[in-house]
Amino acid sequence: MTTETGTIVNIDLKKIREDFPILKKQVNGKPLIYFDNGATAQKPKAVIEAITKYYSEQNSNIHRGVHTLSREITVEYEHAREKIQKHINARYVHEIIFTKGTTDGINLVAHCFGKLYIQEGDEILLTEMEHHSNIIPWQLLCEEKKAKLKVIPINDKGELILDELDQLISSKTKLIALTHISNTLGTINPVKAIVAKAHRKNIPVLVDGAQAIPHTKVDVRDLDCDFYVFSGHKVFGPTGVGILYGKEKWLNAFPPYQGGGGIIKTVTFEKTEYAESPLKFEAGTPHIEGGIGLAVALDYINEIGLEHIHIYETELLQYATNQLTAIPGLRIIGTAKEKASVISFIVEGIHPFDMGLILDKLGIAVRTGHHCTQPLMQHFGIPGTIRASFAFYNTKEEIDVFTEGIKKAISMLR
Ligand code: ALA
Repeated sequence: MTTETGTIVNIDLKKIREDFPILKKQVNGKPLIYFDNGATAQKPKAVIEAITKYYSEQNSNIHRGVHTLSREITVEYEHAREKIQKHINARYVHEIIFTKGTTDGINLVAHCFGKLYIQEGDEILLTEMEHHSNIIPWQLLCEEKKAKLKVIPINDKGELILDELDQLISSKTKLIALTHISNTLGTINPVKAIVAKAHRKNIPVLVDGAQAIPHTKVDVRDLDCDFYVFSGHKVFGPTGVGILYGKEKWLNAFPPYQGGGGIIKTVTFEKTEYAESPLKFEAGTPHIEGGIGLAVALDYINEIGLEHIHIYETELLQYATNQLTAIPGLRIIGTAKEKASVISFIVEGIHPFDMGLILDKLGIAVRTGHHCTQPLMQHFGIPGTIRASFAFYNTKEEIDVFTEGIKKAISMLR
């Protein structure tokens, strides 16, 4: 396909949409228009088939059996880990930990890092645009250790005010945790520059990549972050599985996160010797088909190419932004220069929830509310927004229907 700017992108929309069975669905008698990709993305057939295959042909536990099924699925699971390592360009495969998702990964780091390195009076630096999952684990840690949370503010476009970073970093700052892309605003943060600045003061950085991984090429070695976390389900893979990337030096130092089977070398009632990373952090039977399905999802997007996805989604974002800004009374929340394909907006005099309900009647799925970013809502002085978040299977025609739907909702609700 050729975009309006003349760039040729390898997006065969017809084929791609065929790959996602749910996109054929009717909702409330209308063709589904799925603009809630920030909450969870839809799954291609390849992922659905990998999960079905696991249960119908491969089901067995990993790392535990000498029998054929167990050996074969262990190889496949570990192969999935290697694919994920390559996808984010981690140096070592043992730097890739399977988790339940982004939230679990952040909690793991908060627990293990906190136990070793946080003391009374220490400071952890977040940003004003964090999802609750990148606030609450740190808040719990700070309450436990009598440490302090500090926050990098944003401007009214929804960009970090980086001039304040130097004043906010002190000799007590022990970690910076920030989102790569804001789930509510779509802002793409200059993570690499922030990591470089933090490292000059020996401060490690955790990056919440939940919203970045579906939209952009992530290279953890280039970013040089200490930790990078994401979820499978937002990147077209299964729910209940995610990844924590951690630099080897941290993972070697960390104690286990949870006790359980699979994390040990030897156990006696007196003492346990633990396995090395990643097994040290993967207590209990993991989400086997989840890990395998996640690697299949990454193969799928790599086949299209993240550079093509980025160009196409940027075009969708631009198209939708132009359409929406032309609607009287509509205000976009989050107008950063660097943005992913997420548009949050409010309409004067209309509650986001009411707008969401009318759009749903038209078969359009958007998210409404505070998007688990209440401090961000407080910054803008609003209770919530309506959020459309696009994926590469969305189309301009869908955006046209969405725009008409918003106009219709405004005329009904006013
Ligand atoms: N964090 C997800 C979202 O922003 C659920 O919608």
